[in-house]
Amino acid sequence: MTPRKIKVNVFLLGAVDWNRRLFDSLIPLPEGTSYNAYLIKGSEKTALLDSVDPTMTDVLLEQLKDVPKIDYLVAHHAEQDHSGAIPAVLQKYPDAKVVTNAKAKAMLIDLLEIPDDKFIVVADGESISLGDKTLKFLFTPWVHWPETMSTYLPEDRILFSCDFFGSHLATSDLYAVDEARVYEGARRYYAEIMMPFAGMIKKNIEKIKSLDIELIAPSHGPIYHKPAFIVDAYLDWLSDNPRNVALIPYISMHGSTGKLVDRLTAALTQEGVTVIPFDMTVTDLGRLASALVDAATIVIGTPVVLAGPHPLIVYAASLVNALRPKLKFASVIGSYGWGSKLPEQIAALIPNLKLEMIDPVICKGLPRAADFEAVEGMAKAIAEKHRSLKLMS
Ligand code: FEO
Repeated sequence: MTPRKIKVNVFLLGAVDWNRRLFDSLIPLPEGTSYNAYLIKGSEKTALLDSVDPTMTDVLLEQLKDVPKIDYLVAHHAEQDHSGAIPAVLQKYPDAKVVTNAKAKAMLIDLLEIPDDKFIVVADGESISLGDKTLKFLFTPWVHWPETMSTYLPEDRILFSCDFFGSHLATSDLYAVDEARVYEGARRYYAEIMMPFAGMIKKNIEKIKSLDIELIAPSHGPIYHKPAFIVDAYLDWLSDNPRNVALIPYISMHGSTGKLVDRLTAALTQEGVTVIPFDMTVTDLGRLASALVDAATIVIGTPVVLAGPHPLIVYAASLVNALRPKLKFASVIGSYGWGSKLPEQIAALIPNLKLEMIDPVICKGLPRAADFEAVEGMAKAIAEKHRSLKLMS
């Protein structure tokens, strides 16, 4: 990618990682990702905002080949997908200073061994002048780590938001013109990265509300030329009110749990509840995470194996617990051979979620008529519970 002009003397640099399929050795990237860096040339000083993943260092250095001087290298976030090429940039520009906050400085020293004398530490709200352009730093903690910050460029009305509002999306589009695709990517990203810190994200949205913003330029995915598109989506995802949606992540080893899931899916549909079953042997965890953004109920389906829930369900439940979605209700369906403590075991896996438990349906061996009847009762109970909520439309 060659540098792309956004405004006079403001450029998008960075790399599109078309083929990356896993982030943090955890998060599936079905659409790849990008690492956005931004170059701002003021009348007196030049700043580079963030760098790229270390695997893409050469791409960034190639883009900088005609840039004679960088005065400030702003590090919004210490995670290596943005900071990883900072040592190489400092090697090319030995007089450049890394501008960041005190927390990020400590992390950058820990993670990249950047020397102490290379830093300029800024406070929340502080500005640095580039001459005819100004960098105003806003601390936006927990989008994604506690040190993460953003930069506002008032002369061009651009918010450089780092992970905040990002999307793991490899695209040649400079702007978020393919709104359906960007929405899905940003929602997945929100679910995986932001949802556990929803309270802090709300505060950060409040913090940027008073800014006059024409463009939001994140560190992953395209730039938002209609800021309301992504801010309104965040406000929707951050709402305390869920939608009329039930999720059924499940495993079935010999078909019994699967039969219960099929009946529950049909019964919930009949009751007017939107239902999504996820067979955890084939589910992309990002799809489940994204669905959790506004679901009201989760019903976990599992057989007993080795005296407890299936290990893939233990894994999924621990992720659901860590992501802290706004779920309100939970239940369990499943099957056992000679003994079961599934409801207690599943409840113990999701202690972060303060959920009202709906009566489980656990059958011995194949489900019989009474079990299917109980599942239909569960569907009615879920629909009734949903009717008691203030739901998002
Ligand atoms: Fe894109 Fe948290 O790094």
